[in-house]
Amino acid sequence: MIKKVCVQGLGFVGSAMCTAIASSRDSLGNVLYDVVGIDLDTEDGNRKISSINSGKLLFFCEDQLLKKKLEEASLDVKNLRASSDVNEYVDADIVIVDVDLSVQKQGISYSLPVVPTKSFELAIQTFAKLIKPQCLVIIETTVPPGTCKNIVRKIIKEEFSIRGIDSEPLICHSYERVMPGKNYLQSITHIHRNYSANSKEAEKLAKEFFENLIAIDEFPLTKLRDTTSSEIAKVLENSYRAMNIAFIQEWTELAEEMGINLFEVIDSIKKRKGTHDNMMKPGFGVGGYCLPKDALFAQWSLNNYHSDKKLKLPLTLQAIAINDKMPQHTFNRIKSEIHAFKGKSVLICGVSYMPDVADARNSPAKVLYDLIKAEGGICKVTDAILSDYGDGFLQEDVWVGENYNGFDVVVFAVKHSSYLNLDMNKFSQGLKPNCLVVDTFDIFNDDKIKCLLGAGLRVIGIGKGHIKELKELKGLL
Ligand SMILES: NC(=O)c1ccc[n+]([C@@H]2O[C@H](COP(=O)([O-])OP(=O)(O)OC[C@H]3O[C@@H](n4cnc5c(N)ncnc54)[C@H](O)[C@@H]3O)[C@@H](O)[C@H]2O)c1
Repeated sequence: MIKKVCVQGLGFVGSAMCTAIASSRDSLGNVLYDVVGIDLDTEDGNRKISSINSGKLLFFCEDQLLKKKLEEASLDVKNLRASSDVNEYVDADIVIVDVDLSVQKQGISYSLPVVPTKSFELAIQTFAKLIKPQCLVIIETTVPPGTCKNIVRKIIKEEFSIRGIDSEPLICHSYERVMPGKNYLQSITHIHRNYSANSKEAEKLAKEFFENLIAIDEFPLTKLRDTTSSEIAKVLENSYRAMNIAFIQEWTELAEEMGINLFEVIDSIKKRKGTHDNMMKPGFGVGGYCLPKDALFAQWSLNNYHSDKKLKLPLTLQAIAINDKMPQHTFNRIKSEIHAFKGKSVLICGVSYMPDVADARNSPAKVLYDLIKAEGGICKVTDAILSDYGDGFLQEDVWVGENYNGFDVVVFAVKHSSYLNLDMNKFSQGLKPNCLVVDTFDIFNDDKIKCLLGAGLRVIGIGKGHIKELKELKGLL
């Protein structure tokens, strides 16, 4: 029997999740789910709804498979549609929660983060008023550990009780590891998944659902002891990654001081598989929706659900603070080259947080942009793939020019394919003489850097202290 699944929230996660679920088939190739994506009846929500209904994604997407499957599900098979009508929840067999939940960074060293839970609570309450008692609720939103027990269950129980339902709600927590990019869809279906549920019945239904969604022969499911363990797994996973990135920052500065190419050093270490192959590399900064915030959910839980012991996570909090400040280092490096920003023009190329991903949330470019403008510099931003820069930049500062002419400084802040594939001769010919080119992510190899130096340009690189040596070879020092 085809089951009805409602996916609440049609953002970067929900829109891809809807498509993955609608594309699930049984062993005979039969459709398994009728999927309804639900977003808010707002301008933004309705844009997302219309795009799903027309079989298209709203944002730039490199994954051809996701585009094909979305079009197929919405327009051909017609087992995927989107709506803002909450009555869709009434006959749902499964509701999947993919709404946003943010954190405000407050307190000394971020020790008192604030999570505005109101909109998340409203989201849960919306369907809790309508769902069948036997509907399985799967929370995919990243939440403070303990939220399924302290918030989700409580709200659904309350609404059930108002409706005269005395059964225990069926709640599962299972977080997303989705990675927008070339393998967007498969980063949902072909990846190990953790899950946990609040009862044997919920666990059975969740297992059956994920077995249909995930390529479990290759990626068997992992069941965790309880929903809080699964919630912790998500925030620990992202805290570990954030810490890994933060750790490299001081070594970046050391390498620049000592004239070393840290990328080369790290590549040599990463060959030691099993213990060192996930070492992170120097960079410009950390953006996106998850890494800058997720670790703080753990501190919020300690402060709010377990406040008696006043336990802190100092290393974890410091990692987030280091990552937030990272673009300041690029700013300092540029300043030491050009001495003052007043009257100087800077173009930042790359606003999204990841190569070839169209997401400008928490852009590290915004930090650099603000620092430059605060010192009287003229700062423009551009991005090879973004159409929506968010509301952090003045419209007049979004550079839509075709070339890089006329700037005193050009910063490459994201490793987009089009920056990697720049024709160095053409690029360098268009630049102002003596322009400073800043490579923040190992975008240019030594040959390309030599080409720029040979054209009379200045070059610095984050974590690339050896550029000094390249200049000496060119007789430029
Ligand atoms: N973006 C990623 O790569 C990623 C990866 C893994 C996990 N996550 C987590 O997944 C969750 C969703 O992230 P996202 O990037 O898709 O967020 P998003 O902001 O792109 O999308 C959230 C959507 O939920 C909608 N929404 C909010 N309240 C609603 C309600 N009551 N009813 C219906 N819709 C509602 C919003 O309008 C928005 O369209 C977050 O918790 C995030 O941390 C994100």
